[in-house]
Amino acid sequence: MPLYQNLEALYRERKKYLGNQCGLVPTMGALHRGHLALIEQAQIENERVWVTIFVNPTQFNNASDLHAYPVSLQEDVDAIHKINPTINIFAPSIRDMYPDQVHATSHAFNGLDTVMEGADRPDHFNGVITIVSKLFEVIKPNRAYFGEKDFQQLSIIKNWVKTANIPTTIVPCPIIREANGLAMSSRNELLTKTTRAEAGFIYKTLKHCASNGMKKAAIYSYIKNAFAKHPKFTLHYALCVDETSLKEVDEVNPQEKQRIFVATSVEGVRLIDNIVLK
Ligand code: PAF
Repeated sequence: MPLYQNLEALYRERKKYLGNQCGLVPTMGALHRGHLALIEQAQIENERVWVTIFVNPTQFNNASDLHAYPVSLQEDVDAIHKINPTINIFAPSIRDMYPDQVHATSHAFNGLDTVMEGADRPDHFNGVITIVSKLFEVIKPNRAYFGEKDFQQLSIIKNWVKTANIPTTIVPCPIIREANGLAMSSRNELLTKTTRAEAGFIYKTLKHCASNGMKKAAIYSYIKNAFAKHPKFTLHYALCVDETSLKEVDEVNPQEKQRIFVATSVEGVRLIDNIVLK
């Protein structure tokens, strides 16, 4: 079974396929259909696919969030092998990825990290880039796949790859949703059944705002009112943002690439979502 749990095993395997086009899907495990869609996309476009499963401590802002993060290695391996039993899985230990200190290196992100998740979660993106750069270094993928649910993460990774001349193409993949519209996330597992069902209102709200030609102020008040009807959900931000700069726009303009972003917490779980403004 191609499951590698330390660097030596990974290197031995990697050496055999040096000339092959290699796709990487980095994950923190607890795989859902969103991850599986990334893996299927990687399968189409590459000769070899690596999925990494590693709950990266340096991107969490507090110990309780890290400890609560769902872990299900065996189910994850089974789900990947259902897609294709030749997909390689790398599930390293903390010591493999952080042989010295468990800490994030600092990066400059051209201001992309000063808004939304970056503003609310200090050092989060330094942690993400620290681990993604380590994974790119050991796997050397030609392509790497990231979901648009974490749109800010995707933008920051694209920017880092460009400025640091990393020879890996970043492939964005669309958000996959649960039947009620809730964006798929490993964190959804932590919600009670009732709250998970109720959380469908987040996407319904975004969809309403994105397709009714509403102005920015109307969008903000519609979202605030929608959250007021679901008081257990704390709204952290609702912003209309330019896709390239990630800065809040002065006004909605369907001719430009803009999205609405929201972040909320419920039952101690942070949920994020976004939608294209058209
Ligand atoms: O999106 C995630 O699951 C994580 O941030 C990533 C990219 C795997 C890095 O730990």
